[in-house]
Amino acid sequence: MRYKSQSVAYWYFAVSLALFGLQLVFGLLSATKYLGPDPLLYILPFDVTKVIHTNLLIVWVICGFMGATYWMVPDESRTELHSTKLAYVQLVLWVLMGVTAIIGYLFRWGTGNKLLEQPLPHKIVIVIVMLMFLYNVGMTIKKSGRLTTTEGVLLGGLGLAALLYLPALLHYENYTVSIFYRWWTIHLWVEGVWEMIQGGFLAYLLIRLSGADREVMEKWLYVIVGLVFIAGILGTAHHYYWVGVPAYWLPIGGVFSALEPVALVGMAIYAYSTIKRSGMSHPNKLALHWTVGSAVFTLFGAGLLGLAHTFPSVNKWTHGTLITAMHGHAAFYGAYVMIVLAMITYAAPSLTRRPEEGSAMGYWSFWMQLGGMFGMTLSFATAGIGQVYLERIMGLGFLDAQLKIQIHFVMLLATGSLFAIGVALFIIDFFRYAPRFGAQLDAPGDAAGLQAHAES
Ligand code: HEM
Ligand code: HEM
Ligand SMILES: [Fe+2]
Repeated sequence: MRYKSQSVAYWYFAVSLALFGLQLVFGLLSATKYLGPDPLLYILPFDVTKVIHTNLLIVWVICGFMGATYWMVPDESRTELHSTKLAYVQLVLWVLMGVTAIIGYLFRWGTGNKLLEQPLPHKIVIVIVMLMFLYNVGMTIKKSGRLTTTEGVLLGGLGLAALLYLPALLHYENYTVSIFYRWWTIHLWVEGVWEMIQGGFLAYLLIRLSGADREVMEKWLYVIVGLVFIAGILGTAHHYYWVGVPAYWLPIGGVFSALEPVALVGMAIYAYSTIKRSGMSHPNKLALHWTVGSAVFTLFGAGLLGLAHTFPSVNKWTHGTLITAMHGHAAFYGAYVMIVLAMITYAAPSLTRRPEEGSAMGYWSFWMQLGGMFGMTLSFATAGIGQVYLERIMGLGFLDAQLKIQIHFVMLLATGSLFAIGVALFIIDFFRYAPRFGAQLDAPGDAAGLQAHAES
């Protein structure tokens, strides 16, 4: 860690990992409910556990994004953060917002708009926190007078993510209108501006870990971001097929969303070829695993499994089934969970006393998570195929169909447990090393970082 203020990232990562663990408790709980009988039916029914599961995901992933940004910006702009105090106040507000929202959901306090269930006061706090964050980062860059392209793409993504949250503050009586604008936030987040965030972290990690030429890396980053937007914006229409809008959205959605994987293929080639060319010489190979893993798993979960149900002719059968959950898990994991874990793994040897080369536990965590998530994806997929056939082709009722596909939920619980053990190992591996709070130019592995720094 070259700048003392980068240590704020430690607390952001600590909070993120704790909430990640909690998210999985609610995921496993949601899965067990499919097997019934449910002793918690009147205390913690499925809709409540699911809402907590998905909201915790969003809260911890964004917390991870903020921590990783506070880590990366001083490094890129070569200066201390504008205000560490502001960063800590912001973190406390974020945690209070998250925790009270979760408690609220237990009492059915929420807007009921999927993934955007946060009550209005919480939404306002979210906007305030984002403004504090963007101000702090903006002032840091202004003070230093150095803005790299990688940083620009990251900040563009974060700023636009905040902007696109604004439609979620409005309330519409008409259900079609409400759904129409809901996707401006959700779809344009995950298939648009969050990919800029992922791309920014990816480019930063690849430059640092491989020592690749910054100019070349940043040129390709522009190409990838361009491709994301060309397909992603009109690709929103793949959510408009059945919501009550005019039929011309069907071909628009089909054509443009089918182009979305092109950017993800580009991203995977970008990561893989960079690392291959550089010969894996960086000591933090664990961070290399997470970085390349993120790009490759995104291609699988978002690209391939997104494409699998994006055409109207397929989506009319699969819409809103466990096929959606299959894709939602694999895509979110590859793109956003893995990139946050990559940033944590890269920063850990400086933020804590973890050895640069990582530990055996770190590798176990990586492979158990990967295997577990792959198994979960298959479980949701097999359950989803059965569900579509029984429910939509054979005409069975929802619950009758669910009873016939229970075996896939046994598999989900088994693979989900494997995944959860992998996550537990990651959390233990992070917390078992004492944090460091001072700048150390001679910190282990920093030589490699400094070399990349000098070359950049
Ligand atoms: C990292 C990128 C992505 C993430 C995190 C992601 C995540 C998700 C999530 C969570 C949902 C469920 C949303 C809801 O019902 O509220 C969803 C739905 C969907 N996604 Fe993605 N996705 C990504 C990329 C893609 C791509 C590239 C495609 C197409 C090639 C795609 C196609 C779809 C489709 C068609 C649906 C609607 C499913 C339905 O009708 O029920 N996604 N995605
Ligand atoms: C122990 C691991 C996990 C288990 C057992 C699990 C289980 C579940 C279950 C049962 C649902 C409800 C599906 C439905 O609506 O019928 C769900 C929803 C969801 N989970 Fe997980 N989950 C786990 C981990 C994760 C992780 C790591 C992520 C993020 C990468 C995630 C993201 C989501 C999302 C986005 C949804 C909503 C999907 C949709 O609306 O279609 N889950 N999960
Ligand atoms: Fe989408």
